[in-house]
Amino acid sequence: MTALEKLIHKKISRRDLLKKSGKASAFLTIGSILPNEFFKLELFKEKKSCSKNGLRFIPIEPSNEDSFILPEGFKFEIIRKWGDKINDTEYFGFNNDFVGFIPLDFLQGGNNSNDGLLVVNHEYPSPLFINNYTDEDFKKGRIKTKEEVDKEKKSVGISIFRVKKENGEWKFINDEKYNRMIDADTRIKISGKAADSVEMKSADYATGTLANCSGGLTPWGTFLSGEENFQDHFASDNVWEYRWNDVVKDAIIEHYGWVVEVDPFDKNSVPKKRTSLGRFRHENVAISISDNKKVVAYMGDDKINECVYKFVSSGSYDENNRAFNMDILDEGDLYVADFKNSKWQLLDYDKREVLKSAFTSQADVLVNCDRSSKLVGGTECNRPEDIEINPVDKSVFVSFTNNSKKEDYDGSIVRIIEKNNDSESLEFEWEVFATGGVASGFSCPDNLTFDSKGNLWVLCDVSSTKLNKERYIPFKNNSLFMIPTTGENKGKAFRFASGPDDCELCGGTFTPDESTMFVSVQHPGENSLTQENPTSRWPNYGNDIPRPAVIAITMNNEH
Ligand code: FEO
Ligand code: CA
Ligand code: CA
Repeated sequence: MTALEKLIHKKISRRDLLKKSGKASAFLTIGSILPNEFFKLELFKEKKSCSKNGLRFIPIEPSNEDSFILPEGFKFEIIRKWGDKINDTEYFGFNNDFVGFIPLDFLQGGNNSNDGLLVVNHEYPSPLFINNYTDEDFKKGRIKTKEEVDKEKKSVGISIFRVKKENGEWKFINDEKYNRMIDADTRIKISGKAADSVEMKSADYATGTLANCSGGLTPWGTFLSGEENFQDHFASDNVWEYRWNDVVKDAIIEHYGWVVEVDPFDKNSVPKKRTSLGRFRHENVAISISDNKKVVAYMGDDKINECVYKFVSSGSYDENNRAFNMDILDEGDLYVADFKNSKWQLLDYDKREVLKSAFTSQADVLVNCDRSSKLVGGTECNRPEDIEINPVDKSVFVSFTNNSKKEDYDGSIVRIIEKNNDSESLEFEWEVFATGGVASGFSCPDNLTFDSKGNLWVLCDVSSTKLNKERYIPFKNNSLFMIPTTGENKGKAFRFASGPDDCELCGGTFTPDESTMFVSVQHPGENSLTQENPTSRWPNYGNDIPRPAVIAITMNNEH
């Protein structure tokens, strides 16, 4: 097994050789633009164009202002923020991450870009801002009360609510038909190949969903939520953890670390943990339909030195049979990416002798993907974050955010091209599409989204403890970049938005007509030590604490 950064190094060295011999491809120019030139570059010649899809903009400069900054001609509105209600009894959670927009008429075949449901992940709580539980409290070993733990449990999970654009402005709609919060106490069905197993303690249901990071939407109108750093919630031995085990003594840790599927159109539906997709620190899920109509789910494990996976369904997607598609992710094969041999390696207990000697069943293989993946040749990667599929050519883009232990400080974006361009293929080619760093202008790519022209939008996550310090000073606050994947600007990063202090920008999703982009502003003011003196007061300012929020970005009406 060879770690990905060594393979990347080889590719880049080869690329440099080609460059020297005059055979460089267009994307070799990524690193050759000086930052000062790049930040002044006008992406399009026509200033303030009224482009229908809102893609024309003059890139902004890096900023460390405690505000959300956009290019001239664009505006944002806050849709929901921490503290707002989503219905009469439930609140919008903390640290919103993934945002998906589903047209309200989706199930009728519609594409309404002005009326839809937002599905939002809430990744983790802030003990400081929710309970005034400080790092000092933690160090002193203060035991959390049940009320405090309950408050934090209600602040994480998935919120679903209706939004509507009226007279050019987005509004939250308190719609009792749809609006709900799925939190750390909601009953979730355990489904798929690890259900009923000894490893899952033979349970049919899990208590709640945790660490909901990024996610994905399916062609049948459901939401897939990735449970990522689930391990942080119940332990109590370091400052990043939430010590829910002060009052929750019976947590089953194997019930977390899965992909959770939710039907946003049926408020009474029970979400399901899709165990056939494997258990690891799930970032997101990107769905592709293969030439034979199989559902292919691409996924990454965002832990240092972990892997990229894909699941291929046994059943064939039927666009006229939603009921059938609803459980299609329970049966199929799970593979892990072997970048050294450019192959997808099967994780099947019955078919791989090496798994039979180390595990007791397929459920055991699935619950422990971090170990089983390496045995079949899975490549250790530098923290795979989002994976997205280019709608123009079906190539698969993966963010490798960073891995400081291997001296990869700025990360990269890798592009996978499946053999015959079919997502079901078990062989692929890959290339380094873009590398983070001062030359390219971005660092630590995290969430990705494509527009319909195949431009890649990259939301960055330099850790709040490192932002604006040492090697990360030039990048200033975390930002959103647009990177064309074709044409003369292929591979160049253009800064479109800059977030408030300490935040990470995430989510990132367009309405079908691409007139609006929804973005999450997560953990503004995360370095705060007290509520009285926070490091950010976005978005309300004055004496308020910082509040994570989902925003809608649109063009100004006058354009
Ligand atoms: Fe929650 Fe991998 O970011
Ligand atoms: Ca992420
Ligand atoms: Ca992140």
